[in-house]
Amino acid sequence: MNRLIYFFLIIFVWCVQTQRLGAQNPLIIPQTLSGDTFNLEIQQGTTQFYSGINTPTYGINGVLLAPTLIFNKWDTVTLNVKNSLKGNGNSTTIHWHGLHLPAKYDGGPHQLILQNSTWSPKFRVLNNAGTFWYHPHGHGKTDLHVAKGIAGLIIIRDSAEANLNLPRNYGTDDFPVIVQSKAFDVLHQIAISTEEDTAILVNGVVNPYLNAPSQVIRLRLLNGSSMRSYNFGFTGNKEFSLIATDGGLLDSSVKLTRVRLSPGERVEILLDLQGMQGQSIFLNSFSSEFPNGIYGAKTVKSMMGGTIPDYNLNPLNGLDFGILKINVQTQTSNPVTTIPKYLVPLIRRTIFNVSRNLNFAPDSMMDPTSQVSGPFNINGAHFDMEVVNIKTYLNNSEKWRITNNTAIAHPFHIHDVQFDILNVNGGSVPAYQRGKKDVVLVMPQQYVEFVTKFENFADDSVPFMYHCHLLHHEDDGMMGSFLVVDTTTAGLFNKTKHESLIIYPNPASEYVGIKSDFDLSDAEILVINSVGKEYYKGKCVQNILSIANFPKGVYFIRIKQNKNLITKKIIVQ
Ligand code: C2O
Ligand code: CU
Ligand code: CU
Repeated sequence: MNRLIYFFLIIFVWCVQTQRLGAQNPLIIPQTLSGDTFNLEIQQGTTQFYSGINTPTYGINGVLLAPTLIFNKWDTVTLNVKNSLKGNGNSTTIHWHGLHLPAKYDGGPHQLILQNSTWSPKFRVLNNAGTFWYHPHGHGKTDLHVAKGIAGLIIIRDSAEANLNLPRNYGTDDFPVIVQSKAFDVLHQIAISTEEDTAILVNGVVNPYLNAPSQVIRLRLLNGSSMRSYNFGFTGNKEFSLIATDGGLLDSSVKLTRVRLSPGERVEILLDLQGMQGQSIFLNSFSSEFPNGIYGAKTVKSMMGGTIPDYNLNPLNGLDFGILKINVQTQTSNPVTTIPKYLVPLIRRTIFNVSRNLNFAPDSMMDPTSQVSGPFNINGAHFDMEVVNIKTYLNNSEKWRITNNTAIAHPFHIHDVQFDILNVNGGSVPAYQRGKKDVVLVMPQQYVEFVTKFENFADDSVPFMYHCHLLHHEDDGMMGSFLVVDTTTAGLFNKTKHESLIIYPNPASEYVGIKSDFDLSDAEILVINSVGKEYYKGKCVQNILSIANFPKGVYFIRIKQNKNLITKKIIVQ
């Protein structure tokens, strides 16, 4: 079908649906899970976003989205994640976005959860109180799995936060607000890789309303969309107070009328609803204020005139639109009525011993469309499961300069750490980017510099990721990996040797052969599964390794010879 006709069909269905079923729907507040063991089952089913219309969706412990996980700082938590998805090739991963934890438990593309199997990471919660989230991260499948519905919040609590007079009764004065845009095709299936994300959902609900008490309430905003940024604000430009960014509380609250969130970013805000009982107020996106280049603005256009095909057909682009209607009700019995000025002491990192430059570029500099649509690369490379792009050392403090040489804004995200933004294109840092961050939107033809430190967790074979959080770009390979290596056990990574070493057959079931153009006779071999459990350790005997006793799954084979260390993936089936 012609793309244009197809697009209008979608708009048509959208209009009919919103007119016919335009009634407001109560906001669903995801259930919470707490304790030290969390059983999470990835499932599928159908959801009626529009009444009477069944849309196939994915969720965790349900058919859409996921429970809110409540963690306490310093607790050790075990998460048993079972993949019960059906269909072909529906392996996935679950990543704990924003959390500081060992790479092998991070849930990046390397920690595959095969169908009908359970992955059980266990780690100590080291982050400060804040709002984090979890979502799939399978290579090439992140957009599909997130858009289908797999995403949930993580709320971390700690004593510093508990000492503040803040709303923290979940679902009463402290509300999760997961904002996602979705595209539904003519058959009401969730569509990805289209510019037709014309439905805005909060916590999986279209046209949502929230009944909130007339007092200070806390909203935990997450932009869980695949591509779209929002310029959040309220009816009548009502002021709100920003209290937390991606990594947790700020040192003091900041009064604002707008906060921009690109995909992956979170903020916590306080909204004072005192004296407004009986009234309604809207959380909106003032997308008309977005400059060219942000997905969600009226235009995303390069200097050469390149645009994203069909982008201008989406009525939401550049529009100011309502996201969540808030109906103000009676006060609760113990309302919070003031907004604290001072929050928690924060130390800003500004000192570093290593500088790195990461550059975003379209694969084809000459093609105007590719400057806005990609595919994009980072320092000339696309993501490769078996290549480590950056090696850093435990306890390095580093300044990263992220330069965007494309015509679209990209939200840059790094795993493992939180960072402090030093400057935005050499200039000052806006208030909503002054706290701890793990995602930052880098505007076209600009750069952002941040400082971070790689502490606590080193692993000489399992990498962390950095990538663009526009999920379509990420899936297209706008991602790289970094190893945090402990200098006392450091191995030397050699790309040429890496490429010349071949494991075959792969997938395999009885044995694998190891072929290389260099001598492996004194090499040490270590085979571990995705959570680091050892299955083989020893010499490379005749370049053949028996895997007949290994359970089915994904393994990493680490070959160490003198200073060379090579890691390859094998699938046992
Ligand atoms: Cu929210 Cu690497 O992801
Ligand atoms: Cu992440
Ligand atoms: Cu991008």
